[in-house]
Amino acid sequence: MKGIILAGGSGSRLSPTTNSINKHLLAVFDKPMIYYPLSVLMLGSIKDIMIISTPCDRPRFEELLGDGSTLGISLTYQEQEEPNGIPEAFMIAEDFIGKDNVALILGDNIFYGQGFTTMLRNAIKHHQHATVFGYRVKDPERFGVVEFDHQQKVLSLEEKPAEPKSDFAVTGLYLYDHRAVDLARKLRFSNRGELEITDLNREYLKRGQLNVQLLGRGFAWMDAGTHESLFEAAAFVRNIQQRQGFKLACLEEIAYYMGYIPKEILYQKGKSMEKNDYGKYLLEIANRKHTQQYWEAIDRNPMLGLVENE
Ligand code: DAU
Repeated sequence: MKGIILAGGSGSRLSPTTNSINKHLLAVFDKPMIYYPLSVLMLGSIKDIMIISTPCDRPRFEELLGDGSTLGISLTYQEQEEPNGIPEAFMIAEDFIGKDNVALILGDNIFYGQGFTTMLRNAIKHHQHATVFGYRVKDPERFGVVEFDHQQKVLSLEEKPAEPKSDFAVTGLYLYDHRAVDLARKLRFSNRGELEITDLNREYLKRGQLNVQLLGRGFAWMDAGTHESLFEAAAFVRNIQQRQGFKLACLEEIAYYMGYIPKEILYQKGKSMEKNDYGKYLLEIANRKHTQQYWEAIDRNPMLGLVENE
């Protein structure tokens, strides 16, 4: 499966902060926002990832993340000229997607919770057609809303409805087959002047090919698109990290435990930032002493380290 992170848009809801910097490069506590969606794709074992941003911001993302080789993944970059809507990502990434399945994640979405990795991998493994992830919220009118029956069969989808038919928001993580490209091409602009991801999902729904996977109350899902939600997301990350001593969305840690990079690279990265907490954390992982048995188990199943960290 290929991965796309959509990190364009105007960021107008975060103005003036975003007047001269792309929203997805702002810090969510101790790391750039884009680290969080990138960590989700990496945890889903997706290694071939395209980052779509604006023409003027693209160089900054390239400077931050490079070609992905230091994380053992492949990163490529594309531009969205104007914020014409989320499904435009599929037209921009047409050649990249080819005949593969694709996971799209919005650059301001943050997911966290015990078992998230396992749930995501299962969803990817058994994926067919289109899958959205639903999450109960107290303000569904701010989001795409999914209505479903007691067997989790999707009944309807609406974008920011004034009177939501359920309390379940559609999160900014979507799995599709390659037909998303053709279906996106047929969409029309909505009243707010955008191509809507909800309309693309409706195309799958019409064909009886839309699945919904619910994220339970043990999960946290946030989008960091407003000043309030950005602040809340940063506070959440800080609290969890402070309490547990594990970092959320530490890309090098994930790459290391996935077996994508050797300990030396982790160590070098840590050394290059050793004066700050992030670098110290990488060095701490590189220096962790485990029994031979532990390392043998990790060799057999590189996910063990992650499971331990979840
Ligand atoms: O966060 C989940 C919600 O995201 C879904 O529930 C909604 O169905 C979906 O429409 C979307 O709603 P938002 O109002 O949050 O979308 P927003 O315009 O804020 O864009 C979400 C992200 O996608 C943001 O990080 C910017 C990026 N984006 C957006 C558009 C419209 C682009 O890169 N290009 C675009 O053209």
